[in-house]
Amino acid sequence: MAVIADRCPQVQVTVVDLNQARIDAWNADDLSRLPVYEPGLDAVVARARGRNLTFSTEVEASIAAADMVFISVNTPTKTKGLGAGQASDLRWVEACARTVAEAATGHTIVVEKSTLPVRTAAAIQTILSAAQDAGSERSFSVLSNPEFLAEGTAIADLEAPDRVLIGGDDPEAINALAGIYGNWVATERILRTNLWSSELSKLTANAFLAQRISSINSIAAFCEASGADVREVARAIGTDSRIGSKFLSAGPGFGGSCFQKDILNLVYLCRHFGLPEVADYWESVVRLNTWQQHRIARLVVEKLFGTVTGKRLAVLGFAFKANTNDTREAPAIRVCADLLEEGAHLQIHDPKVDAAQMARDLKRDASEVADSNGSWCRSESIEASVAGADAVLIMTEWGQYRTLDWDALASRMRRPAWVFDARAVTDSQQVRAAGLNLWKVGDGEG
Ligand code: UDX
Repeated sequence: MAVIADRCPQVQVTVVDLNQARIDAWNADDLSRLPVYEPGLDAVVARARGRNLTFSTEVEASIAAADMVFISVNTPTKTKGLGAGQASDLRWVEACARTVAEAATGHTIVVEKSTLPVRTAAAIQTILSAAQDAGSERSFSVLSNPEFLAEGTAIADLEAPDRVLIGGDDPEAINALAGIYGNWVATERILRTNLWSSELSKLTANAFLAQRISSINSIAAFCEASGADVREVARAIGTDSRIGSKFLSAGPGFGGSCFQKDILNLVYLCRHFGLPEVADYWESVVRLNTWQQHRIARLVVEKLFGTVTGKRLAVLGFAFKANTNDTREAPAIRVCADLLEEGAHLQIHDPKVDAAQMARDLKRDASEVADSNGSWCRSESIEASVAGADAVLIMTEWGQYRTLDWDALASRMRRPAWVFDARAVTDSQQVRAAGLNLWKVGDGEG
C-alpha cells in the first residue's frame, strides 16, 4: 500500500488495523523502527506518509470513505478443527468481509490481497450480498489480486513486478484496479483472469517455486553421497532456457510465511476435491523440505562424534532468509530445536532477529549457562557466538557471513572444530586453511 501511495499521489491510501500499538509504530517519527524490516520501505513511507498515505485504527470510517478496500490479513494454517495442519484459517478474512459489509457506503470494490484458498471469493461475495438489502444503494464487486513480492526485495518487486494479476468478473472493477497499477506498471504486465484462476495461480506459483527448492535439495543430498557438486549441477541445468537459473540454490530448506502454508492448503484442497494423487505429489515437496532440516541437524551430531550434549555450537543466522527479520518457518528453528533436544548449547547470532523472537520460536528462555538438557543464548557478535564452540552452523545467507575471517574465528573455537555451511556462502579453501573441518550443503568433495 505504501508503494501504491508512492506511485499514485492522486490516490488516498489509508492502512487500517485494530492494533493501536502497531498503527502507532507505523506513525512513529523514527523510521528505523517500522514494524516490518524491509530494505527501502522507510524511504517509501517517508515520501508518502502525511501526503496520501495514512495509518489509522478508524476501521469503519475508513471503509465508509473508500471506493476500494484491500483485504490484507493473514491466513495461517489452521491449528485445530476441520483441516487442522493443512487448511487455511479464514477467520480474519471473514471478519474483514463482515466489517466491510456493515461499514461500506455506495459502490465498493473489495480486493482479496491475502493469499486464499480457491473459491474464497465466493464466500466473500455471499457475505457482502447478504448486506445488500432491497433498495440499498450499496453494492460490491469482488476482485482477486494476489501479491507475488518476496521479503527482502519487496520494494523492488513491487516497483518492477514480473506481472500483476487481477481476477474478477466485473470489467469496470478490473479496469479501476488496473488503472491504479497502470500508473507505473506496463499494460502488458497486468494480467486479467477469472476469479478462480487468479486465486489458484498464487498457490500454484508458490508450489512451483517451493518444488524447485525441494528438487535441488534432494539432488544436493545425492551430490554429497556421490562426489558431485550441486552448484555445478545447478549451473549446468540452469543454462537450459527451459529450466532457467533462478531458485536453484540448495540450502537448509525453504522457510517463510508462504511456501509451506500454501502447499499444505493446496494439498488440502486437492484431497477435498477428490484428487488424492495430486495431493500426495505436492505434499512430498513439504516432506522433502522437513527431511532436509532434520538431515542437517543429524549430520551435525554425527560429525561431532555422535553427541553434542553440553557442547557449544555457534548458529549464524536465524531469519528464514537474508535481509529480513522474519523468522516464520525459518529452517534455523527446526535445526536448533533438534540440537537443543540433543543437549547442545547454542550461541545464536542474527543481525536482525532479537532474543525475544528467538525465545518464542524455540519455546524456551535464553540462558548463558550450558545445560545438558539443551540451552541457548543470543550473541551480539559473530566473535561471541563462536567463542568456545565446537562448530559453526551457517543457517542464513547474510552478506556478512560471506566474508568471515576464518583464521581469527578458528582461534576462538575448541578443536577439532567444524563449519557446517547450510547456505554455501563460505570459501572452502579459507575455511580449511584455518584448520577447520567443513561440510557444505551439496558439496560431495568434502
Ligand atoms: C515467496 C515467493 O517468492 C513470493 O513470490 C511470494 O509472494 C511469497 O513467498 P518469500 O517467502 O518472501 O517469497 O521468499 P523467497 O525468496 O521466495 O524464499 C523462500 C525460502 O526459500 C527462503 O527460506 C529461501 O532461503 C529459500 N530459497 C529460495 C532457497 O533455499 N533456495 C533458493 O534458490 C531460493
